[in-house]
Amino acid sequence: MKRENLDKLKQECLECKKCPLGETRINIVFSDGNADTAKAILIGEAPGENEDKTGTPFVGRAGKLLNEFLKKAGISREKDLYIINTVKCRPPKNRVPTDTEKAACENYLLKQIEIINPEVMIFCGATALKSFYDKKIQISKIRGEVLELEIGGKKRKCIPIFHPSYLLRYHSLEEGSPRDLMLKDLTKIKNLIS
Ligand code: URA
Repeated sequence: MKRENLDKLKQECLECKKCPLGETRINIVFSDGNADTAKAILIGEAPGENEDKTGTPFVGRAGKLLNEFLKKAGISREKDLYIINTVKCRPPKNRVPTDTEKAACENYLLKQIEIINPEVMIFCGATALKSFYDKKIQISKIRGEVLELEIGGKKRKCIPIFHPSYLLRYHSLEEGSPRDLMLKDLTKIKNLIS
């Protein structure tokens, strides 16, 4: 049933022209991971160039860095996660999706959450966080906290984490550095889903 519902939803996305991104995309980027075994949904921002070309989220530089961190924390991308984005089509030049584009895609996002129905959600970066939480909040102030939010008719544990493209700019691993905090947050998530 889950698979059927997801296939139907993906078909709707394939035909979607609700916002201008539908005119410029190569592929829609629907999801990655295993809908049956996933213990958490990870929500990113939007597809970039590589994702648009392949139709899979987080496969470019940021995605490769995310994979490294997931591995270090003992989280399986293939088994533990269902990975999606706030919008399914690439914004030109990788700009942040506009409120209109996010609104046009919101229903697809909510339906994916309802179908997968996870206990745990990971907001990967500020755009994902602000889609569900106070728009004025800074990710650096709230990352790693476990927020109890009602999303898709159910209370879920939601943890904001840094976006891997932010981490591409900081290489230090010292205590309190962005990369150190990312590993700590993912380790917390690993414990939540184990
Ligand atoms: N950044 C995102 O937020 N999502 C992707 O799929 C790729 C890069």
